Amino acid sequence: MTSIHAFWLAGRQATGEESFDVTAPWDGGLVGKVSVPTADQVEEAVAAAYAVRDEFAATPAHVRAAALDHVSRRLAERTEEIARLIRAENGKPIKWARGEVGRAISVFRFAAEEARRFNGGEAQRLDTEAGGQGRLALTRRFPKGVVLGIAPFNFPLNLVSHKVAPAIAAGAPIILKPAPATPLSALLLGELLAETDLPAGSWSILPVPNEAMPPLVQDQRLPVISFTGSEKVGYAIMDSVPRKHCTLELGGNGAAVVLADWASDEDLDRAANRIATFSNYQGGQSCISVQRVIADAAVYDRLLPRIVAAVEAQVSGDPSDERTDVGPLISEDAARRVESWVDEAVRGGAQLLAGGKREGTSYAPTVLTDVPADATIAHEEVFGPVLTVQRVAGEEAAFAAVNDSKYGLQAGVFTHDVQAAFRAHRALEVGGVVIGDVPSYRADQMPYGGAKQSGVGREGVRFAMDDYTYERVLILTGLAL
Ligand code: SIN
Repeated sequence: MTSIHAFWLAGRQATGEESFDVTAPWDGGLVGKVSVPTADQVEEAVAAAYAVRDEFAATPAHVRAAALDHVSRRLAERTEEIARLIRAENGKPIKWARGEVGRAISVFRFAAEEARRFNGGEAQRLDTEAGGQGRLALTRRFPKGVVLGIAPFNFPLNLVSHKVAPAIAAGAPIILKPAPATPLSALLLGELLAETDLPAGSWSILPVPNEAMPPLVQDQRLPVISFTGSEKVGYAIMDSVPRKHCTLELGGNGAAVVLADWASDEDLDRAANRIATFSNYQGGQSCISVQRVIADAAVYDRLLPRIVAAVEAQVSGDPSDERTDVGPLISEDAARRVESWVDEAVRGGAQLLAGGKREGTSYAPTVLTDVPADATIAHEEVFGPVLTVQRVAGEEAAFAAVNDSKYGLQAGVFTHDVQAAFRAHRALEVGGVVIGDVPSYRADQMPYGGAKQSGVGREGVRFAMDDYTYERVLILTGLAL
């Protein structure tokens, strides 16, 4: 009989009355059974987090840093086991799953470093005006309160880490809700947190069903919500609690621009390979995977066949196989939705140059050109292994095409021209511009987040810490400055 995974309530393991199954997207096999907290247990976790908030905010930096370093070390020691768990519950190919654990190791290490240097305080003399003579302002940041973190399925460890680690670093208690499809990696992270001396109540990991979330979202003891997921759910949360602080990491339809100067055979091979890899990594289930290629007419005809060849060279199949590049999508429903969007585009006149086939939860890496502007895939986030390629005349038209989207998460621009890089930085309405590479590059310490409908606020350890805290000024009077 399969044992039931307990959840983490105020730092200790607990079980509720009901459970649900986590199944493998690849073969439908049972990965684990997860216990669901009762409403009383959720209340207990929230009350404990609220009660400990002042004590936790005052915990010495070295204690929080040591706990974060410990988790980073333990993730490194258990990398292979955790990577296999991510692969099983999410369907991510094992090589990408290992990469995800590597990133989470860094996130906790960055958080330990930030915990040590955060909040050193800033001094500002106020005697620049007569009324401020003898006065000095000291500014430090304090937690806004308990954070409610809501994590998605596509990076079941690392996007959980991006919520939990900065909260601990800033001294803010956190209640973390993992995605229903992929709670096991988050619950395993709980094992490592439980090995630390963090105060009871400072963290809970609760696999609360989506339907049971509204009371938690409304709970006034949780003034900060950090959500990663769909645009629809993210804005519904924010609209339901307009007076709370919400960080929303939502969708994107990442564009890779190839400008006319990126023209040597070597340049085009590199662009094609990076585009093919990062439109298909994790089955395209990343908010910054490449969905749109926007190529200058000067290079388009030489680039397109290279992209098609590189996409066709992607190895699809069993995520346990070391050679697999592209695994299944998270569910058959997800694969069917991608299929319906591609079919709709093709019915509307798009050319299908590769892929276009579904088998169960898997969808073949796909390339489309001539996509009609009104096709769903032309303006929504596909979250699948599909890319569209578009010909444009010149840089200005390329940047306008990037901005012709309700989203604005990241964009990649293949150019050698430093002036074009600065023009892209100014022109593109996105949270990050990557020069010489795809939009999918993310370093976990950098600010990460969107413009337009891609969300509000920033992750990236220190930037999330800023989001979870506010400045409080201390004014000293009567000083000999
Ligand atoms: C996301 O899908 O927004 C996360 C991408 C990443 O962390 O690489």
